[in-house]
Amino acid sequence: MRVGLLTGGGDCPGLNAVIRAVVRTGASRYGHEHLGILHGWRGILEAGETRPLDRGTVGGILHLGGTILRSSRTNPYSREGGPELVVENAKKLGLDALVAIGGEDTLGVANRLHADFGFPVVGVPKTIDNDLSGTDYTFGFWTAVQIAVEAIDRLHTTADSHDRVMVVEVMGRHAGWIALESGLAGGADAILIPEVPTAVERVAELINQREAQGRHFSIVVVSEGVQFTDSEVDTTDLDEFGHVNLANIDVGDYLARRIRELTGKEARAVVLGHTQRGGTPLAFDRALATRFGVHAADMVASGSFGRMAAVRGDRVIDVPLAEAVGTLKTVPPELFRDAEPFLG
Ligand code: F6P
Repeated sequence: MRVGLLTGGGDCPGLNAVIRAVVRTGASRYGHEHLGILHGWRGILEAGETRPLDRGTVGGILHLGGTILRSSRTNPYSREGGPELVVENAKKLGLDALVAIGGEDTLGVANRLHADFGFPVVGVPKTIDNDLSGTDYTFGFWTAVQIAVEAIDRLHTTADSHDRVMVVEVMGRHAGWIALESGLAGGADAILIPEVPTAVERVAELINQREAQGRHFSIVVVSEGVQFTDSEVDTTDLDEFGHVNLANIDVGDYLARRIRELTGKEARAVVLGHTQRGGTPLAFDRALATRFGVHAADMVASGSFGRMAAVRGDRVIDVPLAEAVGTLKTVPPELFRDAEPFLG
């Protein structure tokens, strides 16, 4: 079989580990040939660059962040005749199967291509946001959490020295997983996530309470997609997949300014941004990504198309793509309640 691989959406630590695992497993177990499609769906839509992948080309990449196949946020379904062109170009490239490594958007396209054309695609769940259904974890998530925790640890000492409030804005889009786990592990004094809309005034109250108790600094971890009950966030600027462009909203800066106004304390915002997606994956993510890649190669060999590799407990399984992209996996309220004793 000739198997294509592509990586789409925001990059994420562990992508190269998946690529390596698919290629090594497919070649050694099944004699598959592999072709890397560069720049995600854009690469196949525009019949762009490709590169052959074999044991040599995937050597030495296990620990590397980013993706040797590069990425894009192109949505073939947002272009007239786009999906048909993807199918046609895949045929021209002689592909018998495609492994799509991506998040909600990339795998959403994979799911539609499979439903509309019976396109032979297998998905691998990637995103630092951890918001894909059907899997306990996506690889890259715990690396992003660790990066955020290291930043929070550093911000603690400087916040303490200056009696300041440090607002730490983390990624996660409309799911608060990164904020919740990094806030718990970093000992945040307030954690704000999209699933639990909060009033800015409540955050100010919490900081004032701490002040009265002699705790003159506070760490506030805020998820970029947070909603405040006492102010409006502009949601009109959308990307190709119809998502709000959160990068243009500056929620951390807004919150720091409001905290200054409401408490009279010095407050600074730190936006961790793409730092959370860069660099080397943690051991957990390398191992998970590798297992996903092995499973994806097995799925290709057994013709399990329209499905995605997933992890449940300590087992790697596969689930229908439709299940994975149907609804966003957000933080359940009971999990957030576990954080409450530590806030304030
Ligand atoms: O989905 C991953 C993610 O890092 C989100 O957490 C974030 O909102 C978005 O991608 C940022 O996208 P971009 O790299 O296009 O700015």
